[in-house]
Amino acid sequence: MTTNMLVSTLLAKKRDGQTLADDEIRFLVDGFCSGEVADYQMSALAMAICVRGMDRRETATLTRAMLESGERLSRDTSVGGDPPRVDKHSTGGLGDKVSLVLAPLLAACDLHVPMISGRGLGLSGGTLDKLESIEGFQADLTSEQSSKVLRDAGAFIIGASRRIAPADRKLYALRDVTGTVESIPLITASILSKKLAANLDALVMDVKTGSAAFMKTVSEASDLAESIVEVGNQAGLPTTAILTDMDQPLGQTIGNAIEVNEAIEVLGGSAGVVRELTLELCCELLVQIGHDSSRFDANKRLADLLDGGQAMERFERMVQAQGGKFNGAIKLAPDHEVLAPASGYVAGFDCAAIGQAVVVMGGGRRKQGDAIDPSVGIRVHARIGDHIDKGQPIFSLHCHSRDASDYVIDLARAVEISPSKVAARPLILKRFGN
Ligand code: URA
Repeated sequence: MTTNMLVSTLLAKKRDGQTLADDEIRFLVDGFCSGEVADYQMSALAMAICVRGMDRRETATLTRAMLESGERLSRDTSVGGDPPRVDKHSTGGLGDKVSLVLAPLLAACDLHVPMISGRGLGLSGGTLDKLESIEGFQADLTSEQSSKVLRDAGAFIIGASRRIAPADRKLYALRDVTGTVESIPLITASILSKKLAANLDALVMDVKTGSAAFMKTVSEASDLAESIVEVGNQAGLPTTAILTDMDQPLGQTIGNAIEVNEAIEVLGGSAGVVRELTLELCCELLVQIGHDSSRFDANKRLADLLDGGQAMERFERMVQAQGGKFNGAIKLAPDHEVLAPASGYVAGFDCAAIGQAVVVMGGGRRKQGDAIDPSVGIRVHARIGDHIDKGQPIFSLHCHSRDASDYVIDLARAVEISPSKVAARPLILKRFGN
């Protein structure tokens, strides 16, 4: 490494829109991890990258430097060792409980799914919070414990270890408070450094677009998908992506226990958008690793595993291996109906208002470390394009508050009803990859 580099000179270079050389990027990331590059300098770099961008070579180098700041999960390299290892990552959205179905479903295909997930903050729910609605479920496992769960159940869903991509953990904490989350190179490096550390054979990305996603337009979301697919493949991780609609909640429920209950219904064979999206993402992976020669064959195999109960059996196995006591559907707070204020076609949802209602009822965090009430949540009874009559329930709201009427009034405003026909929205918008 060149030792006479000046951090301030490199920051000015990026500020002025120049590209950084590989050794300059490594110098900054290594220095940030060792404490030689101060938080305020790294925050300035994040802002410069946010405004000026990075080309693919710079993004790939940043990804690799962040990966190499930590450990990689080990693999059994002996003959007949590990089965193929796959994962999915979603950029996050309202009501997204796909991971809860996808991980056990792929495990039922005899694949390994080492899924590292997050907790919710703000309006987007976290997979770990949802799973912790199950009594006893442990999301924080040691590497020995998680390896055992992977061997026994074929899948785990756990929190990020401090040893995986520590540069990302440290940088994300700065980005979160400096308005620098929304940057395609920074998001690419953040997601891929962690996925590369999991030593996967294939990754599929679910990139969301719409009012409830953090990439609001198809064009921005497509740029992110292309960046992740290119950098992932270049780094030796076969990666594809699909772009999916997030202008309305995914599936029928938003909350914690209520989303686990919906996932259990899907694992039991129920139809709907959660099943549709899960099958689509799993097909990507099965074809990618050569487990099936066509999407048609993959889809048939996966549908049989859901309908035949094998995916549910894997879910139970995974939950039990992580300390959870699985007893079927989880009890929810009492429900209150929100009635449609007019007859017509559902034209849109105010997803921010729906997400906020769940947080205010106690189902999400206003700040890090807040306790969550898993039993509160919302069931949505219609999708965009459906016809609804005045007075028909549009939402069911589960909450303990004695004064649920405030939420009921707020939520009645969170649906737009049009007198003229509205087209249903496609869920899957575009695909990226080979
Ligand atoms: N998720 C991540 O892991 N990192 C980002 O930068 C954004 C979303």
